[in-house]
Amino acid sequence: MFRRKSIITILAAGMVLSSGTVYAQTISAPNAQSDTAFDNKIIKKISADNMYSTIALLSEQPREAGTEGEVRAVKYIEGQFKSLGFETKVIPFPIYDYRTNHVWVKSGGSNIEGAEPRAFSGSVTGNVTAPLLNVGKARLGEVPDEVAGKIALVERGDITFIEKVQNVLDKGAVGVLMYNNSSNGNNFGQAAEGQDIPSVAITREQGLALVEKLKSGPVTATLDVDIEKIEKTSYVVEAKLKPNKNKDTGQIVTVGAHHDSVHGGPGANDDASGVSAVLELARIFAKAPIDTEVRFLTFGSEERGLVGSSFYASQLPKDDVDRMVAHFQMDMIGGRDAGADNPAGGLIMYTIDGQKNLVTDLGAAAGVRTMGVAIPYGQLGRSDHQPFHELGIPSALFIHSPVEPWYHQPTDTIDKISKEKLQQAAEIVGASVYQIARPETPALENSRVAAGIVDYDFEDRPVD
Ligand code: BES
Ligand code: ZN
Repeated sequence: MFRRKSIITILAAGMVLSSGTVYAQTISAPNAQSDTAFDNKIIKKISADNMYSTIALLSEQPREAGTEGEVRAVKYIEGQFKSLGFETKVIPFPIYDYRTNHVWVKSGGSNIEGAEPRAFSGSVTGNVTAPLLNVGKARLGEVPDEVAGKIALVERGDITFIEKVQNVLDKGAVGVLMYNNSSNGNNFGQAAEGQDIPSVAITREQGLALVEKLKSGPVTATLDVDIEKIEKTSYVVEAKLKPNKNKDTGQIVTVGAHHDSVHGGPGANDDASGVSAVLELARIFAKAPIDTEVRFLTFGSEERGLVGSSFYASQLPKDDVDRMVAHFQMDMIGGRDAGADNPAGGLIMYTIDGQKNLVTDLGAAAGVRTMGVAIPYGQLGRSDHQPFHELGIPSALFIHSPVEPWYHQPTDTIDKISKEKLQQAAEIVGASVYQIARPETPALENSRVAAGIVDYDFEDRPVD
């Protein structure tokens, strides 16, 4: 659904857009022509064949975080950056897998009958024996003080698992035994970091049997949870391209993609496609004159919840963050079957807050110059632009939406990749980055001020 009518308007420099943003770079109006000349320095060199070969290589095997497949991809990416002469770093970080060895719930000395109980995701390992107390749904203010030192028998529903665990933990409970509020088994439950009492899910039937038993006298229960924490290593690859020392704005632009795939997925489009564009732009920018640092990044463990990009963001020196003016994230930019009938092959720029920013302004303008289409923007997280946004850096995700049916499937393979889509997305991101990084454009006066060049629309487009 369009919020405004789709019109392409080239605005003169200095104009204030309806979004209230001011164009901060002084490019004389009308500037589209000279911008196109500069675009050509980058986009004429982009080779979709190069990108396609990279995707073919990376998608030969899954690249799930913490596996050999990730290591192979990381080595390849690092090698490519190094051969281009970049200052390259492979940054390791820990990720954790959990293996449940056993979960036993005993009452009166023997295991309860029926389905084997399940530990909450995030539950700690522990073995506690204590009186059981029925605390209903454990809503705030309803948990009695007498739960202190006891195992809380809780019914699922109304509030979150984490809230329930917290409410009984605050009153001194030593364990959580939660039964379902429907007859749907016992596959549920989540505990948060720091909620360090064993938390276990059982079926409704098992729970109601305990509720009955408690009516006829005290019940002592045992929660014995044995979960093994397995540490693995995942990586971020960082390659810095430093500007000419004599002409350095001191600013940094980052261009990212994630190199990990889901378990068993070749991840050709998700996200070998983004990595291929990061490497291709790195190859081209390595020879371009720039006055701004361009940092090329590939993240591991995106599929586990943006773990690599969050780690990367957390370890950045404050000085780097202050100098970062834009983050461009490419994730799923080559899907032949993505985008439906939308213009520009369905390419869209998603921001976390659903607001335009410097990145979307530049992307929309570059779309007009390279494809004659003002790329729309929308609101979505779900990729590595999120941690950059949280640092206050203008960021956007470039993706074709709606995504293809092969998303996260073993069928996300090279034969579903469109060279044309790769080329278009890489051109738009490359031209946008070059707008900031080329020496002819002055430094952004204020990295939080967005540039507005063309009018482009918000779209509330379903992504999958
Ligand atoms: N490439 C996807 C992002 C995506 C998929 C965006 C479909 C829009 C539509 C990304 O790799 C992914 O799968 N992300 C996860 C979330 C993440 C926080 C684990 C997702 O969307 O489920
Ligand atoms: Zn992805």
